[in-house]
Amino acid sequence: MTSVTSRLRPFGTTVFAEMTALAREHDAINLSQGFPDTDGPAALLDAAARALREHDNQYAPLPGLPALRAAIAQRWSEGGNRAADPDSEVTVTSGCTEAIAATLLGLLEPGDEVILFEPFYDSYRVCVALADATPRFVQIRRAGNDHTFDPEELADAITPKTRAILINTPHNPTGAVFGQTGLESIARLCIEHDLIAIADEVYEHLVLDEDRQHISVASLPGMADRTVTLSSLGKTFSVTGWKIGWAIAPPDLTTAVRAAHQFLTYAIATPLQHAAAFALSDPECLAWLDTLRTQLRTNRDTLCVALADLGFDPILPHAGYFIMADHARVSAPKKIDGDVAMARAMTTEARVAVIPPSAFCVDPGLCRSQVRFAFCKQPRVIDEAITRLHEWIGVPRPENYPQPPSVSRNLKPD
Ligand SMILES: Cc1ncc(COP(=O)(O)O)c(C=O)c1O
Repeated sequence: MTSVTSRLRPFGTTVFAEMTALAREHDAINLSQGFPDTDGPAALLDAAARALREHDNQYAPLPGLPALRAAIAQRWSEGGNRAADPDSEVTVTSGCTEAIAATLLGLLEPGDEVILFEPFYDSYRVCVALADATPRFVQIRRAGNDHTFDPEELADAITPKTRAILINTPHNPTGAVFGQTGLESIARLCIEHDLIAIADEVYEHLVLDEDRQHISVASLPGMADRTVTLSSLGKTFSVTGWKIGWAIAPPDLTTAVRAAHQFLTYAIATPLQHAAAFALSDPECLAWLDTLRTQLRTNRDTLCVALADLGFDPILPHAGYFIMADHARVSAPKKIDGDVAMARAMTTEARVAVIPPSAFCVDPGLCRSQVRFAFCKQPRVIDEAITRLHEWIGVPRPENYPQPPSVSRNLKPD
């Protein structure tokens, strides 16, 4: 017997908690959950320590500290969007996770439909259920060495009950960066059917290839007044534990987001908001982002090459923290069936924890032959994971995996 409400019962325990616990139990290298194993820029950490000592440590205002909202609005307009009014259009939340919940709970009526791209970040579906709304799914599929969706399938998923389309670009778990054409097709449908776009852009600053560019959904013509854009300090500055996120939306939509936010968390840690405001406008912190991207690019290239050597079939991600790799050629000889069994075997036998991406799908077939690797880890940790995988799979490991710049080009889309 369980006391868990019927709304939440179908979702069990989040796969991140499950895999991280299994990784600890087996002393596995944790390439499952997407958190860096080094902290963000020193100046940011110093700003937090200073704020803790020098500022008041009581409740912040409900929508967030004015200084942080102003800094968020400033970065937002510098990123190619219209100017946002910090007072009526920016809300600080407990990570992007709360921004997702507040947006869906604040905007959806029971029975409304929301379109999610599958595979999806797992909290979307749960929050849609908590709002008594109904998800409809459009698949993001492999296309050569990239991932894409079919705009016709998206159009077909819209019904008279559709209220919103939730877009995640850059995308977790595939690392796809939605291009101009795809986004324009989404925008056209939103305008034609009078839909809200909810844009989760937490990996906006982690685009790793020069030929890809993050485009904010709200920056497309006709979209600013119907888009709620969500993001997070955690991914940008490697402080995922701070849980500072935000929602930017026109005043009417912001009122709905805040209507839920006030009763979910009311306000977010005051000293960390001071530090976040500092980071978003400090040249040293912003320059640090280049270092982060360079490191992530190297890690990605190293791991992609090693995974290919090991018999996986990785698809080069263009942004974010994750590599999706087909595991069939590794799992078949070991008689392991499916991504869940593979992720468990890798964690308990190879002692390298990964995520089974079927946790992000409703169609069990969509990601069954793949596993997701997080590469936001120190190079020596990635290196040790590669060694363990070589031992487990029985493929001799090259002395080194040096990364000439051509590596990523070789793996780019055909
Ligand atoms: C796509 C996506 N959205 C939201 C989140 C949650 O962000 P936060 O840690 O700021 O709550 C994550 C975290 O992994 C994510 O990948």
